[in-house]
Amino acid sequence: MLTELQLRNFRCFEALRVRFAPRYNFFLGQNGQGKTSILEAACVLLRLQSQRSSTLAPLVRLGEKSFGVAGRCHDHWLEFRYSSLRRKLAFDQVEQRSAAEYLQIGRVVSLANSDSELVRGGSEFRRRFLDFLGTQLEASYRATLRAYERALRSRNALLKSPQSKLRELAAYNPPLLEHGAKLSALRASLLHRLAPFASDAHREISGSQETLTLKCAPGNAADFAEDLARSHAQELRLRQTVVGPHRDDITLLVDDRAAGPFASEGQQRTVALALKIAQARVFEREQGAAPLLLIDDIFGELDPERRNRLLRALPAHAQKLVTATSMTWQKEQIDGPTFELVGGTLRAR
Ligand SMILES: Nc1ncnc2c1ncn2[C@@H]1O[C@H](COP(=O)(O)OP(=O)(O)O)[C@@H](O)[C@H]1O
Ligand SMILES: [Mg+2]
Repeated sequence: MLTELQLRNFRCFEALRVRFAPRYNFFLGQNGQGKTSILEAACVLLRLQSQRSSTLAPLVRLGEKSFGVAGRCHDHWLEFRYSSLRRKLAFDQVEQRSAAEYLQIGRVVSLANSDSELVRGGSEFRRRFLDFLGTQLEASYRATLRAYERALRSRNALLKSPQSKLRELAAYNPPLLEHGAKLSALRASLLHRLAPFASDAHREISGSQETLTLKCAPGNAADFAEDLARSHAQELRLRQTVVGPHRDDITLLVDDRAAGPFASEGQQRTVALALKIAQARVFEREQGAAPLLLIDDIFGELDPERRNRLLRALPAHAQKLVTATSMTWQKEQIDGPTFELVGGTLRAR
């Protein structure tokens, strides 16, 4: 549980300190008041990455050079400082060289309307979804992902260099193949564990008998080495590696039809919610504890029936940070402290 969060020069906040309750915590405010930024700060503190931005530079308050987040989670004090030149981590006041121990403390699942990109968007959204879960579940996932990305970057850099250097390409294949095979295996296993939870959650939220199925759509053939060799002419033409886990995807089927092109917007949203609830349930099952849920602008936009079904589907014991522009729906349903955000200041209601 995250009991306290402190921000400095983070997005629109110069300084902010919030204490959280164990279950629901509500953040209420008009657009642009900093609601999502508070959820983002919690995500950055626990996972060292943002749920909405692939880089951390935009999180630094305009006109400043660095931001800091700190807080107490499961009785440990975590601190992270970021500037374009360096990152500093401290765990229980001790500065850390590696993030390994620090990242053991908190787990996060984020639910937002932009999740519909998981269904509608390109494959990178679905890879990011898997990797966000995988890196939180297994230390080897993060190491493998990084090693593969490094191997891919070097190989692609070589493919872009002058013709004469291309003779060296063979030397760049073994690391790509080795880390690629490991990453594929980790992702396939993860998807296999997620799939039943996703299809249960989908049935609960949609209130229908439609079945959501998740299938691996690997970015390379089963024999990666052979596939790489086969793609050589194409990669020379495009000057980049064209097969491999960086092209992995997940096929989402609702009653055997592809969810992307065929589903209505409401159905797409249900699939996206089911995927996120499945993430939370994998944590509960495999780690015996629910993750921190960041629920951004979702409840207010659902009709009452679907809102109730979603509320029932969320892990009951999870701590939740919920944002909304209006809370007329909340009163009779859920208990928890409500904070109001106006112009970068936070008021308890
Ligand atoms: N790096 C930054 N420095 C200063 N202000 C920022 C920065 N990034 C975003 N903002 C501003 O912070 C405000 C709050 O954004 P956000 O948390 O997304 O609001 P909400 O979720 O309440 O709509 C916005 O007005 C945005 O323009
Ligand atoms: Mg927002």
